[in-house]
Amino acid sequence: AALSQDELKRVAAHRAVELVESGMVLGLGTGSTAAHALDHIGDLIRRGELRDIVGIPTSEWAAARAASAGIPLTDLNAHPVIDLSIDGADEVDPALNLVKGRGGSLLREKMVEGASRRFVVIVDKSKLVPRLGASGLAVPVEVIPFGWALTLRRLRSLFDGVPGFNLKLRTAATNAKASTFGENWSDLEPFVTDNKNYIVDLFFENGIHGDLNRISDEILRITGVVEHGMFLGLASSVIVAQKEGVAVMNK
Ligand code: A5P
Repeated sequence: AALSQDELKRVAAHRAVELVESGMVLGLGTGSTAAHALDHIGDLIRRGELRDIVGIPTSEWAAARAASAGIPLTDLNAHPVIDLSIDGADEVDPALNLVKGRGGSLLREKMVEGASRRFVVIVDKSKLVPRLGASGLAVPVEVIPFGWALTLRRLRSLFDGVPGFNLKLRTAATNAKASTFGENWSDLEPFVTDNKNYIVDLFFENGIHGDLNRISDEILRITGVVEHGMFLGLASSVIVAQKEGVAVMNK
């Protein structure tokens, strides 16, 4: 029988975990795909097949999941250089650029994955897009709560005139994966990140056209923006699980 989407996520995750060696410092990803990797790493530690592993979680969710899987945790201050990070993504383009943060975490992910010698992304085929934003789903921007409406207006001006562009403050109720991660559920309250910030979601009907690095710089130059969910040039490889088998895209 054909594998379900969740089974495909597990296949990709287990393939990535084959890269883990005893003694490594690991970056631990967030989301339903990364969950399979965390659980499997925990199993291998319990069976004695992996030793002296320490992990740096990319979110409070990952910290809790890794702890219950039995992975010893540390932090980025103690280990500023990470051997290998494994994480999911919301979109992957042909150049291995990513969109992340639809589940609400992106800042710690980008810090941890940017500090990794090797960053392996695990996805099922549904995450592949011809260009970032093309799924029509959110490209998240983490912003300081203070003056968030001003920051949102500045983000809007940046994309003024782009056909099909839209943006909105993410609420607890609209956090794309709030149900998956068990966040508070409310129609009125803004969604709050692990870092106590808000998220403004950008939507591009036809995907993001233009120089992604330039667009990234322009977003980051707005005072009040903390970080955005485009991960440009960070992934070393992407493991894609599909019905026909596993494909690996390398940088
Ligand atoms: C979390 O906010 C994201 O960056 C995740 O990495 C992303 O949402 C992937 O999650 P799934 O594996 O659940 O699709």
